[in-house]
Amino acid sequence: MNTPDKSAAPDTPVLSARNLVKRYGHVTAIDGADFDLMPGEVLAVIGDNGAGKSSLIKALTGAVIPDSGEIRLHGEPIRFTGPQDAHGHGIETVYQDLAVAPSMDIASNMFLGRELRRKDLLGRALRMLDKKAMRARAAEHMAELKIGLGSLTQPVETLSGGQRQAVAVARAAAWARSVVVMDEPTAALGVKESAQVLDLIRRVRDKGIPVILISHNMPHVFEIADRIHVHRLGRRAAVIRPSDHSMAEVVAIMTGALRVEADGATSVADHRAVDAVGVGHDDG
Ligand SMILES: Nc1ncnc2c1ncn2[C@@H]1O[C@H](COP(=O)(O)OP(=O)(O)OP(=O)(O)O)[C@@H](O)[C@H]1O
Ligand SMILES: [Mg+2]
Repeated sequence: MNTPDKSAAPDTPVLSARNLVKRYGHVTAIDGADFDLMPGEVLAVIGDNGAGKSSLIKALTGAVIPDSGEIRLHGEPIRFTGPQDAHGHGIETVYQDLAVAPSMDIASNMFLGRELRRKDLLGRALRMLDKKAMRARAAEHMAELKIGLGSLTQPVETLSGGQRQAVAVARAAAWARSVVVMDEPTAALGVKESAQVLDLIRRVRDKGIPVILISHNMPHVFEIADRIHVHRLGRRAAVIRPSDHSMAEVVAIMTGALRVEADGATSVADHRAVDAVGVGHDDG
């Protein structure tokens, strides 16, 4: 269905931002945020409630127009005029409140808003849909991602929460050429369903499409992320690798108890907060 858009170079971020600002009246939701998504990675974005994660993601996917700052896609400066514009540039977002049409079947959901028309007179004159072609291509894609959902003509409302999530993720993976963004994809899922969605995220990455994963679930983040972007008070506080830090340390960075220095070492920013989260630290 899709071939990944290649970056200019392996060390050029696929999607990046510098000094983004977005204000809502007196509230500054994005306060000088930087962002970098590298080719082929799963980047987790974590932060407290209200830290500005969703606002940042919306700015990066065209849903919010920032007041100032710069966004680059494959190294080139870009200004998205809206979500459709971002779609057009190969960026697909899976929102937490799933945008699937429950009464429609799986194949139709995959092609929602991008339906294939028949190529004959019926297609040209009456804009009749090519359901056969859509089913065949949906099946191909589901097989590629190893998603087993039974019949593709099954209405989505008959699926479990996890299976619906799989349809939403598969659709994003099917159309994305540059980036897949997922806002809390496992928040409402059970253990088994979560594992399936995490597996799907890995497959998308292995296809060569980098993934941005917003999540409050630290075990999931540690299981799947190549790097973790920690967002705090409207901006990027740190970018770390899960292998370099414990979960408790990452939570301490998120709450501002620990600070990450330029060399990657952590130092205590707030002694009382560090004691409160119980992270052992030398200079504490
Ligand atoms: N449309 C809006 N109008 C006014 N204020 C907004 C709007 N969207 C976000 N905000 C404010 O911007 C700040 C950041 O919100 P945002 O939703 O980006 O945080 P978040 O990190 O995604 O939080 P959560 O973890 O709860 O989803 C909050 O103070 C929020 O109230
Ligand atoms: Mg949010």
